[in-house]
Amino acid sequence: MKLLVVGGGGREHAIIKKLKANPSVETIFALPGNGGIAHDAVCVPIGAKEVSKIVAFAVENQIDYAVVAPDDPLVLGCVDALEEKGIPCFGPKKNAAIIEGSKVFSKELMKKYGIPTASYEVFTDLEKALEYVKTAPLPTVIKADGLALGKGVIIAETREEAKEALVSMMQDKKFGASGDQVVIEEFLTGPEVSVLSFTDGETVVPMISSMDHKRALDHDQGLNTGGMGTIAPNPYYTESIARECMETIFLPTIRAMKSEGRTFKGCLYFGLMLTPKGPRVIEYNCRFGDPETQVVLPLLESDLLTVMMAVTEGKLASTEVKFADKSAACVILASKGYPASYEKGFKLEIPADVWPHADVAGAKLDGDDLLTNGGRVVGISAVADELKDAIDAAYARAARVTFENRYFRKDIGARALKAKEN
Ligand code: AMP
Ligand code: GLY
Repeated sequence: MKLLVVGGGGREHAIIKKLKANPSVETIFALPGNGGIAHDAVCVPIGAKEVSKIVAFAVENQIDYAVVAPDDPLVLGCVDALEEKGIPCFGPKKNAAIIEGSKVFSKELMKKYGIPTASYEVFTDLEKALEYVKTAPLPTVIKADGLALGKGVIIAETREEAKEALVSMMQDKKFGASGDQVVIEEFLTGPEVSVLSFTDGETVVPMISSMDHKRALDHDQGLNTGGMGTIAPNPYYTESIARECMETIFLPTIRAMKSEGRTFKGCLYFGLMLTPKGPRVIEYNCRFGDPETQVVLPLLESDLLTVMMAVTEGKLASTEVKFADKSAACVILASKGYPASYEKGFKLEIPADVWPHADVAGAKLDGDDLLTNGGRVVGISAVADELKDAIDAAYARAARVTFENRYFRKDIGARALKAKEN
């Protein structure tokens, strides 16, 4: 089979490595991929948002199956466009990807179907939003409606910060049209859990839970990033919480989307907060998480391509999805200064025995050399029977991956280990 994977980060690298394990796979094309992904796939310089070029490439190269991984092409309708040409895909159609593409849509869906989430108000008018935050409880959470590269959420501790956030989103259009509407919501507290799930629109199968580390610096200080590391499973996510989430969140969401005529097929990511009042949805993503995928897929024992195709064909209920009873950790090696300003173009060296555990996020080939080409450069992962051993092994491998200005958090998994002790 000839496969195509749209995207070019660490998540896509992890997906590609897992897809390769299926013996019927002959070639995987990554659009655009990156210099590290080129280790495992044929990279083609077509951007993930260039939907018409992606479709033309898929038709010309007689692609048998496509995986659309990032949010942007999903929200733009890449799956619809490929399927119109008869190419089966993994990923939701445009009318279902809106669950991530519009926070207003997802909040209204949750309200209509009684799915637990933070209480909220929607504003399209700056003056009204400013008036509201004059008396709203602090801290208050301000979210741009549309996609904003993971930066559209501001937790305002003061009224002044809330005002600045609203002006920058709604007046200065910091995130373009994404800020035409904003959601202002209740601030929740509790451990966060990422639960990715496979769903064919009828059946939903949660994958092993995970924990992201979003802040740039140790002890959850510094700016929010795309994610500096992950561990799985998440020790806060107990079996009884998992059952509760299935009943109050996962199944109701899948059914709600179907009732709305927006059947969701693909990976639906539930960003949850385990509050003192029970689990609440913080966000939905219409795709695999990055870097959650880098710890979840190494624990998947079933064949990924088989599961993905079962999702596409609506056969998930009769397909086994099995995870190892082990733990995984992933440490992101970033360029110093990320997520603000950082330099690129440094030589990246990955020892041969580390390559199978390296998911390259930002690197390009320069002859035979790999050069850093992004804020997040590479994720290094490990699997072990015990979480502590997985974390230690990931750090030991990460120490052997070198490039100038390398930066990483030293405390990935520390909070999870502590939670396990208690
Ligand atoms: P998001 O981009 O929606 O994942 O939000 C980024 C981060 O902001 C989340 O991972 C949470 O840590 C935090 N966050 C979002 N919404 C809330 C909320 N209602 N209460 C507290 N923290 C929140
Ligand atoms: N790691 C968070 C996300 O993928 O949105």
